[in-house]
Amino acid sequence: MTRRALITGITGQDGAYLARFLLDRGYELFGAVRRVSSQPFLRLRELGIEQHIRFVPFELCEFGNLFRLVEETQPDEIYNLASQSFVHTSFGQPIYTAEANAVGVTRLLEAIRMVNPRIRFYQASTSEMFGKAQAVPQSEVTPFYPRSPYGVAKLYGHWITVNYRESYGLHASSGILFNHESPLRGMEFVTRKVTLGLARVKCGFQETLELGNLDVQRDWGFAGDYVEGMWLMLQRPAASDMVLATGRTESVKTFVEVAASAMGFTLAWEGQGLKMLGIDTRSGRRVVRIDQSLYRPAEVDLLVGDASKAGTELGWKPRVQFPDLVAMMAAADDRRVRDGSVVF
Ligand code: NAP
Ligand code: GDD
Repeated sequence: MTRRALITGITGQDGAYLARFLLDRGYELFGAVRRVSSQPFLRLRELGIEQHIRFVPFELCEFGNLFRLVEETQPDEIYNLASQSFVHTSFGQPIYTAEANAVGVTRLLEAIRMVNPRIRFYQASTSEMFGKAQAVPQSEVTPFYPRSPYGVAKLYGHWITVNYRESYGLHASSGILFNHESPLRGMEFVTRKVTLGLARVKCGFQETLELGNLDVQRDWGFAGDYVEGMWLMLQRPAASDMVLATGRTESVKTFVEVAASAMGFTLAWEGQGLKMLGIDTRSGRRVVRIDQSLYRPAEVDLLVGDASKAGTELGWKPRVQFPDLVAMMAAADDRRVRDGSVVF
């Protein structure tokens, strides 16, 4: 029998890759989208799958809407990928972030409990919950210490998912995912900002790339690999929580260096701290500058995950390695900027 899935946040990076993954497996797919004034379907269009999805109106902060959505679509699986996902924005909009990322999860779980408790549920939890990391690497048993309103709200979303599983027997799993990127990544996030910015600097559309803290380290994987892990979690007989990560950590500075090299720059650093500059030694151009306003009030300095539980229980492992990920993103933005195609 054809299985039905509902994806919230289908217009985002992960939503697009997960939609393609589920369509390839024959799922009937409902894509929950909120009303926005710009074009929300560009990623789905880029993957060539927009026409295979049934779109339904959705807002995380509106219980009646969520309840009717679950009742009308009657899915077998719900993937809750929707959230206010920008960490920096969460410092300026902490209350909305909590409404969407914390209480929003409870709204969905309540709707599932009332409409059909057999629906399997995936919650998009995050390595941001580890924040000021209490152990290296971080796994399912590492204590949490979030460092942003985003991380705090997601931690509530994580625990309410665990609580509904334990209280009501829901098949509800929380995926604790470390940073995952792709050519479909939003341009507000540092990796895409770097590859798009460098491509624009190279073509003369932008003078310099302005960045914040270059010393922080992240465990960066490829989003296409991570959506498979989400699906595998919901195929298990019993729900549980899993870390998905590569186990390798790199600094933002290293990401910039590898991306710059892939774009044909020869980057050298001059100066220190806020005065540091990234110079292209061939042309002498100042390619990278530091902008203090891009620093966060509290930072997550080092994330690196231990995904051995997912390896053992799901047979999951990431395929794309760090250098190939950077090269893939750099090549996509280099091409897009040169041929003037739409960027998202
Ligand atoms: P993304 O590209 O920013 O997508 C977020 C999605 O949520 C978009 O479709 C957005 O809709 C939707 N959304 C935001 N607020 C909403 C609201 N109030 N009501 C309904 N929909 C709303 O994020 P992503 O990178 O794909 O990440 C997917 C999920 O995984 C997020 O929950 C994120 O917090 C979490 N996560 C991501 C990573 C990562 O590295 N990518 C790691 C760990 C966890 P619009 O298109 O209308 O904005
Ligand atoms: N966005 C951004 N812009 N970040 C910068 C910049 C800049 O100009 N300069 C330095 N950074 C640093 C940030 O301070 C942060 O430490 C790091 O780069 C990564 O920032 P983001 O790419 O914005 O991602 P994030 O790690 O804060 O959050 C992402 O990953 C989380 C999982 O750990 C998002 O996808 C979250 O939704 C996700 O939960």
